Amino acid sequence: MSNLAFRPGQMWLDHKGNHISAHGGGLLFFKDRYYWYGEDNTEGYLNTVGVSCYSSSDLYNWTNEGTALKQDDMPEELQGKNEGRIERPKVIYNTLTKKFIMWMHAEKKGYAFSSAGVAVSDQPTGPFTFLFYDRPVLFEPEEGFDAHTNESTLGNSFRDMTLFVDDIDSNQDGVNDAYVLYSSEGNWTMYIVRLNADYTWIDKSQGSNRLRPQCTAEDLGKIWSRQFVRKMREAPAPFKYRNHYYLITSACTGWKPNQAEYAVSDSPLGDYKIKGDPCRNDDNQTTFDSQSTFIMPLNPTKGSYIYIGDRWTPDQLGKSPYVWLPLQVLEDGQIEIIWKDSWSLADYQ
Ligand code: DGJ
Repeated sequence: MSNLAFRPGQMWLDHKGNHISAHGGGLLFFKDRYYWYGEDNTEGYLNTVGVSCYSSSDLYNWTNEGTALKQDDMPEELQGKNEGRIERPKVIYNTLTKKFIMWMHAEKKGYAFSSAGVAVSDQPTGPFTFLFYDRPVLFEPEEGFDAHTNESTLGNSFRDMTLFVDDIDSNQDGVNDAYVLYSSEGNWTMYIVRLNADYTWIDKSQGSNRLRPQCTAEDLGKIWSRQFVRKMREAPAPFKYRNHYYLITSACTGWKPNQAEYAVSDSPLGDYKIKGDPCRNDDNQTTFDSQSTFIMPLNPTKGSYIYIGDRWTPDQLGKSPYVWLPLQVLEDGQIEIIWKDSWSLADYQ
């Protein structure tokens, strides 16, 4: 039976009748099809399966395309048997290399591994080849390095993350600018860093941008910024509307939902000015009992987007429902996310 509407907070069955497990995920639109990538949590918290991929032509009905990046194809230390865990994977397409690029937060029990993982594929559904893990930036904040994640030797920690592809090619390298946004400094501060031309690492611009190891603050120049300094934000979900860069984030309260906040900037690297809670009539101020993961453009010229969040159920992580809701940019540039028990695209385009 096919779905004709979104039902936020309900179980959402794939074509085989199983609840979709693509948590902390993101969507990619490629050649008339949507691809939804996320954490496969069907076997629980640890990385015992890999990164899932589903595809759809209408956003309501999803075909399980299998595991896009198998845990067996990741380094041993990131596999579930060694207490590895993958969080918040995202995939973007590189028009220059014609490759699909996946970034993820690579973790281990204890939450100190906190590194970026990067994988590539020739097809949207995979198989993805894992390239490496590392931490992009080395910067000592005034308050000092985070000791738990061993920042002074490994670089600044890399946790909740997402990718954003702009619609401009500012340095004219033949491919649109892309950015990685992630919680760093032990979650205290969010980092935004521009990616290199093939999107497989950060852009050290002019020159040695294929170097994998972390860059120092001095190396980075104008391709990196710290946002929401010491404000403890995570779950970044950016989108662009008429030359304005919007960024929804959550507070850091583990699996428990909290009040989202959005911020706006004239440039992708910031500075982002905090505007407040994007949710209307959200009585409990918990982002309608969800945590942001992605914003899907629906009809951006009219300011219509889909807010995508996870409603985490930690004791049955794989059964966590999703919260997809209409997000509208208003005339004055403010945004609002409203609750709907059930809704369809036709009402909001
Ligand atoms: C909040 C993060 O946003 C999630 O991705 C996950 O890491 C949980 N914390 C774990 O507590």
